[in-house]
This record gives sequence, structure tokens and C-alpha cells, in this order.
Amino acid sequence: MKDFLTRPAWIEINLDNFENNIKEIKSIITPGTEIMSVVKSDAYRLGAIPLSYVSRELGIKFFGVATLSEALRFKKEFPDTSVLILGYTPAHLFEDAVKNDITLTIYTLEDARKLDEIAGDLDKIAKLHLAVDSGMSRIGFIPGEKSLEEVKKIFELENIFVEGIFSHFAASESDPEFTKRQFTTFTNFIKEIEDLGYKFTYKHIANSSSVLYHREYDLNMVRPGIIQFGYTDSEKLPEEFGLKEFLSIKAQIAAIREVKAGETVGYERFYKCDKDTKVVTLPLGYADAFPRILSEKIEVLINGKRCKQIGLICMDQMMVDATGVDCKVGDEVVLVGRQGEEEIKIRDICHFSGDCETSFITHFNRRLPKYYYRHGELVHVSKMD
Ligand SMILES: Cc1ncc(COP(=O)(O)O)c(C=O)c1O
Repeated sequence: MKDFLTRPAWIEINLDNFENNIKEIKSIITPGTEIMSVVKSDAYRLGAIPLSYVSRELGIKFFGVATLSEALRFKKEFPDTSVLILGYTPAHLFEDAVKNDITLTIYTLEDARKLDEIAGDLDKIAKLHLAVDSGMSRIGFIPGEKSLEEVKKIFELENIFVEGIFSHFAASESDPEFTKRQFTTFTNFIKEIEDLGYKFTYKHIANSSSVLYHREYDLNMVRPGIIQFGYTDSEKLPEEFGLKEFLSIKAQIAAIREVKAGETVGYERFYKCDKDTKVVTLPLGYADAFPRILSEKIEVLINGKRCKQIGLICMDQMMVDATGVDCKVGDEVVLVGRQGEEEIKIRDICHFSGDCETSFITHFNRRLPKYYYRHGELVHVSKMD
């Protein structure tokens, strides 16, 4: 009995498999290439801090986040690491970023000037990476004369250190032609800047699928996100690259009832029993991880057997048909992961919702506690309170 549980529904994370994935990424990329571990949105909701203890042990020194609050939280835990905010930071937050030695992404001269002024006032040098829009049409300098002029002026600012330059692939998995064009646009722009005598310590464009498929785009830094967690968002299975999934979602049975043929289950009386049915209630729902759109599509594992979810998924509960399965209140149910001979993968679940694995996992609610295991031992618990 897991009497340490704070809630009868939880996520288990196997840090050994995460370690395996970081080692695999290191072995795939060009030797000497730095890895910037992308841990935005709390490492896609899997826990930036506990995971990064492992990746730091394996020599990772650079981390990428999306917002200042993510960066501050990370720096508080790991003051000696380099953290880059990969997205837009409004100028009123620059002071906090500079005071805490957080690296910013900049793509306008105006923002660079503001940052320079704030760094000057604080008697500090602000570190930044320039973003380049090579075809994603999202953020970044658009290569051309005007941008080149602005970059030149940024390099001349006194209280700024331009440490790096980066861009982002739009379709490195699905469109090799466009990816190549993006790379050429990006590197041509870098060459124009370097021809003026300016240098970058780090140049980076490669995301997960570029890491898996394109050695020619490594430059001297890569930014893997989702593959660290054992998913590929691609046709190919993670195992083909030596990657291992490392999370399971589990729950304990909350209630069991025998529902007669013809009676209904759940909201809107959505499910009508076509036989006498053993209905098992699980204490997690769409506010935790399983959107309502998955109603009556997913299965769960009870006592090693696949059981179909029935009725509309509720906010905090869902019901399953466990007819013929031997079980009792408190038994462990697997919603993602392995039980006996059976396994349910997030890939299978995404197949029903039309979602991708990245999007599915980043919707996990923090109220679903996470238990981290290493070498078979529980080493960390992350919960909302
Ligand atoms: C700027 C940037 N770099 C890297 C990544 C990592 O992408 P992936 O998870 O596909 O590796 C992302 C994710 O969206 C990103 O926005």
C-alpha cells in the first residue's frame, strides 16, 4: 500500500530513463556541441527542477525556458547555470532578469537599448541571444539590410554581451526542403554579421527532430525539448533512437458498483449499459490530464486487463467498464504505462484526440502529484501544496 500518497491519482517518473535519454542525445550529436536543455513550462510539465538535477550531473550547463518566472525559479535552485528565456520579455521585466543574471532573447534595437540602459544603471553586463526569424514567422530579426544595421548597433552597446544567436525550425520533421532553406537563411545572416567583425559564442537552431535527423544543423549548440522526455512527435518510434518514455499515470480505484443493463453512467446519461456492468470509478479527470474529448476512447489497465472508459470524463473523476475483472476499492489502475503484459502509451491516447505528445503532457495539472524514482528508490515528490 502506498501510504505516502497525498492523492489517489499520481504520476510516476523514472529518472533512470531520463538519464538514458540525455546520454542518447549526447551520443547522437556532433562531438563538442553544447546542449541547451529546453525545460520551459516546467519541463513540459514533467518537472524542470528534479529532471535538471539529473541533466546537470550529466554535464548539461545551458537551459532554455519561456518566461522570466520560469527562469527565476530555475536560477534560485541552480544559481550557477546559464538560463536563456527563449521568448519575448517585456522591458519592464529587464531589471529583474539582469539582476539575476538571466540571459534574454532580443530582436529589436529598441529593446537592446533599454536593456543596455538598465544594465548600465545596475553596473552589470546583460547577456543576450539574438533571435532570427528564418521562416517560422514568430519572433526574431528578419534577415536583411535593416536588421543588419540594428544588429551592428546592438554590438556597439556598452553594457551588453551578445553571447549567441538562434533561430527555430518550423518543420524539421516533415519538410526537409524548407528546413534546409531556413538553415541557409539563418547561417547567411550570421555570416553577414560575422563579416563585419562581430562574433557569437553560440549559434543554435536545432530542436528535437533536427537532433534526431540532421547532423548538418547542429552548429555548436542544440536545443532538444521533447526527445529528452522519450517522445518524438514523429512517425518513428522513440525506441528506434534509443529513447525511453519515463512516465506512468496511475490511480487507485475510488468506488465500484454494479449497474444494471439499461441504466446510464455519468453526465448527460452519455453511456447506456447494454449489459449488467461493473462500473469502476477513478479519482482523476479532465482537470488532471485527460481532456473530455477522450471520453469513451481511452482504456485503462486493471489487474493487467484493458478496461474501456465509459461515459463523459468528469472534471475530477471518470468511470470505466471493469466487467469480469477481479478488483476492489484501492487497487492500482494504470492509465499510462505498463501493468502485467499490457501497456498504454501516450502516443495511443493522442491518436484518439488528434493531439501531439508535447501538447498532451504540457496539459498535466500540477495538482496531480509526481513521484520521481531513481535506481528503484523514491527520490523526490512534487506536489501542489
Ligand atoms: C525556441 C525553441 N527551442 C527549442 C524548442 C524545443 O522543441 P522540441 O520540443 O521540438 O525539441 C522549442 C519548443 O517549442 C522552442 O520554442
